[in-house]
Amino acid sequence: MEPIEGGMAYHSDYDRMMEECSSFGCQRYKETSMKVTFADGVRDFRYKVKEWFVDGELLTLVLEDIYYPLQVKLFYRVHEDLDIIERWREAENMGDEPIDLESFYSAEYSMPGDGYQSMNCNGTWISEFKTFSEPVDCGKKVYESTRGATAHVTSPYFILHQNATEETGEVFYGALAYSGNFKVVVEATPYDYVNVLIGISDTDFVWHLNRGESFAAPAVYAGYSADGFGGMSNTMSRFARKKVMPASTADQVLPILYNSWEAMTFDVNCTQQILLAEKAAQIGAELFVMDDGWFGKRNDDFAGLGDWDINPQKFPNGLTPLIDRVKELGMKFGIWIEPEMVNKDSDLYRSHPEWVYRYETREILEGRNQIMLDMTNPEVVAYLTDTIDKLLSENDIAYIKWDMNRSISECASACHDSLDYKSIWYRHTQGFYDMIRALRNRHPNVEFEACASGGGRVDYGAMQYFDEFWTSDNTDALDRLSIQEGYSYLYPIKYMRAWVTDKHRASLSFRTHCSMCGSLGIGMNLNSASPAELEQLRTMILRYKEIRPIVQFGELYRLKSLKQDEIQAVQYVLGEESVFFAFLPQQFRCKSHFLVKLRGLDENAMYRICFEDKQEIKGSAHMSADQAVLEMVKGKTSHKSGAYLMNNGLELKLSGDYDSIFVVLTKD
Ligand code: GLA
Repeated sequence: MEPIEGGMAYHSDYDRMMEECSSFGCQRYKETSMKVTFADGVRDFRYKVKEWFVDGELLTLVLEDIYYPLQVKLFYRVHEDLDIIERWREAENMGDEPIDLESFYSAEYSMPGDGYQSMNCNGTWISEFKTFSEPVDCGKKVYESTRGATAHVTSPYFILHQNATEETGEVFYGALAYSGNFKVVVEATPYDYVNVLIGISDTDFVWHLNRGESFAAPAVYAGYSADGFGGMSNTMSRFARKKVMPASTADQVLPILYNSWEAMTFDVNCTQQILLAEKAAQIGAELFVMDDGWFGKRNDDFAGLGDWDINPQKFPNGLTPLIDRVKELGMKFGIWIEPEMVNKDSDLYRSHPEWVYRYETREILEGRNQIMLDMTNPEVVAYLTDTIDKLLSENDIAYIKWDMNRSISECASACHDSLDYKSIWYRHTQGFYDMIRALRNRHPNVEFEACASGGGRVDYGAMQYFDEFWTSDNTDALDRLSIQEGYSYLYPIKYMRAWVTDKHRASLSFRTHCSMCGSLGIGMNLNSASPAELEQLRTMILRYKEIRPIVQFGELYRLKSLKQDEIQAVQYVLGEESVFFAFLPQQFRCKSHFLVKLRGLDENAMYRICFEDKQEIKGSAHMSADQAVLEMVKGKTSHKSGAYLMNNGLELKLSGDYDSIFVVLTKD
C-alpha cells in the first residue's frame, strides 16, 4: 500500500494496511494482534524487519523494535503436501528492563475484498457445535472463551467464506492449537479487507517478560479451500492425522467402547460392573469403561474428587477382580478421572486447602459442587501426575477418560505474586499439558479421551495429547445429528466419540446408525436391554467393525443437512469403498422416496450397492456364525456406475418417523 503523504485527517495508514503483525498504538485503531508496555510506560511496538530466513519448510521473520530491546519472531511452516500453513509467534526481551505482553495473538490474517461471512458456533453444554454463518459487514465479531478451557460456546477457529456451500466457494480457515482462553476477532475494516486475529485471549491476560525471557504463542493451522466446506474438512482431517494426533495411534482405528455413565451414574460396584461387562462383551465391545463413582467417597457429585483411591465398599478387593474379568471377556479396561478438580468434601482438600484457585477475601464459588486445583503450582501437578501414574501402574488400565466439569473462577494462586495473577489462565493450560504429557510418556500404551462436560475440550491443542474427544453429554440421536455435523466442519471424525444410549426418542437402529457416523460407543444399560436389543446391537457392531476404517479415515461428504433438507445424509469414501447413512426424523406429506447424489466415487467404475436389511436385523432370533449374520443383514444389493450415483443419485426409501438407512458401496 502506498502511504498517503503526511497522512489524512482521520485516516490511518496502518489501518488501511493489511498487516502480518499489527501492534497497538502507532495510529492503529483497528483491533491489533499484540500490545506491549515497556518499563517506562511506552505502549507501542515500532518495528523494522531485522532479518528473515528460510530453513526447509520454515520461514522466520524477525521484527525488532527501533528503540527498545524487544524482538518478535513470526514463524510460517509450510506443510505443502497437506495444504496447510502453520503459524505462530514468539516475543523475546533482549534487554534488562521487564516488558509486559498484554496481548499476543498467534497470527493475523487479512482477507482482501468484502462480502465475507464468518462461521463459528453459539453452543452450550449439551448443545455443542451449533454453527452459524453471519455477514461481516461492519464492526467486529468476537469468538472467545474466558473460562480457562476451550468450553462449549464458541470454537477456537476462524472460517471465512463468500457464500460457500459444501462443494463450492472459497473458504479461508484456521484452527488454534490451544486448550485455554482463546479469542478470535473478525473485523470488517472500512478499507476493503477483513482482518482476522486468532490466539490466546487478552481478557485478563498479562505476561511479564523479564530479561532474556521469551514467550511463544500457540500454533494456528490455516488453509484455503476452493471447494467449499467439504474441501476444508477433509484437508484439516488429513493434516490432523499426519501432524497433530499422537503419532503412535493416529493410524489406528478406535476400539468399540462401552461406558457405564448413563447406565449407572455414580452407583457402580464390582458385581454390577462385571454383569455389564459380560453384556458388553456379548455385543462385541472391545473396551469396557467404568465412568465416575469408583473412587473416594464418591456417591454423588458432592464428594470424592481429589481422592483417587478405590472405594473399598464398592470394590472390596480393589479393581483387580473387575479388570481380570473384563480381560477374560476379551476386552480392555478403562476408567474415568477428573484430575484438575477437588470437592470440598475430600481428604485432598482437607489436607491442602491452599492448593486451589482462590481470593483470600472472597468465598470460593463452586461449579458442579467442585473447585479447581491450582495447576500453576508444580507441586500440585507433580502430586496429581504421581497419583494417576500409580493408579495406572498398579492396575491394568488401557484407557483414561479425562474430564473437566467446571470453568475457572477466582483466578489467583497461592504460589504466585499477585502481579502475576493475569498469567494464571495461561499457566493452568500449561500445567494440564505438562501432566498429560508426563502420563503419556510414562504410559505410552494407554489411550486418552478428552472430555469437559461433553465437548468442552475439543481443540487442536488437546488433540496433540489425546486420542479422541467426548463430543457431547447430549446423546439424543436427533440432537446428535446436528451436533455431529457442526463438529465435523473442522475436527476429524475419528476423534468424534458417539455412544448409543437409552435416550429413546428414536429407534435403536436410528440411534446406532447415528453413532456409527463417528467412533462408535455404547452407553446403554445393557442389564435392562432385551435379548432382541442385545442381538440387534451385536449385529450392528459387527457391521460397524467392517466399515470403521472407512468412517474413521475416509473422506467425508455432508450430502444433506437437516438445517435445510428433510433428511440428513452423510457419506465416507476410502479407496474402493464407501459408506452412506441417511436419516429421516419425521415423515412429511407421505414423502418416502429420496434421491441423494453421492460424491467422491470413480465415475468410470461400477459399484456394488448393499443396503442393510433392517427387517432382518429386527427379527433376528436365530443368528449363527458371524459371517452368516453379516450376509443376512447386508440385504438387497444392486449395481450402478459411479457416474450414475454422482449425477443421478442414489434412490432411497425412508418412511415414518425416525427412519434411517445404511448403505455400503464397493467398487466392482
Ligand atoms: C461429565 C461427562 C460425562 C460423565 C460425567 C461423570 O458430565 O461429560 O460423560 O463422565 O461427567 O460425572
